[in-house]
Amino acid sequence: MPELVIAPSVLSMDYTKMLEQLEAITKAGAKWIHYDVMDGHFVPNLSFGPDILKQFRKSSDLFLDVHLMVDDPEFFAPVFAKAGADGIVFHTEALDNDPARIEALLDKIHEMGLKAGFSIKPATLVEPFLNLLDKCDLVLVMSVNPGYGGQSFMPEVLKKVRILDAARKDRNPDCRIEIDGGINADTARQAKEAGVDTLVAGSYVFGHDIDKAVKSLC
Ligand code: DX5
Ligand code: ZN
Repeated sequence: MPELVIAPSVLSMDYTKMLEQLEAITKAGAKWIHYDVMDGHFVPNLSFGPDILKQFRKSSDLFLDVHLMVDDPEFFAPVFAKAGADGIVFHTEALDNDPARIEALLDKIHEMGLKAGFSIKPATLVEPFLNLLDKCDLVLVMSVNPGYGGQSFMPEVLKKVRILDAARKDRNPDCRIEIDGGINADTARQAKEAGVDTLVAGSYVFGHDIDKAVKSLC
């Protein structure tokens, strides 16, 4: 199982204190920055484009984990790759859950030299995609309906984490299982018990003492 990574979600950052907060998450031991891209169509909210990602790239050496919540990930993946992403995950639902299109986009992201993975909403089953695990560096299981920070964790998605954890043992033990939505010290513990190794946390990290919050997830 890959080693535990904490990925604070900058959606909940205080942008008047961006550099200070980046330093605080780095000092606390976070290794990744989770960057949510929302297009107002795939989810009913807008967030950041590629130019802001470039500023994060200039300001930090942490791994930039880009989560595309957009209708057209085939168009936007190269845009965010160019802007400095280290890894890109996109939603299967945006590609009509079509395994051939998902595989092709994973290949395209790899060809650009980045880590690649897919994400699934709480209502989407994972079984149809298990044979893509050997093509993935990570799979992102949403534990809230995507679109907003600060929502409550949906424990029922842990069933999918357990299925993924069992499947990766044979197919690709290095594949990360990432969870996103409603993560705090308590839900992080449940997620890790189920097999998660990569924890995204937004409001919990940036709404509390950053150092203590990041450490409480480990
Ligand atoms: C939600 C985003 C998350 C969000 C998580 O659609 O994908 O990354 O920032 O926020 P919290 O941790 O507050 O649930
Ligand atoms: Zn996210």
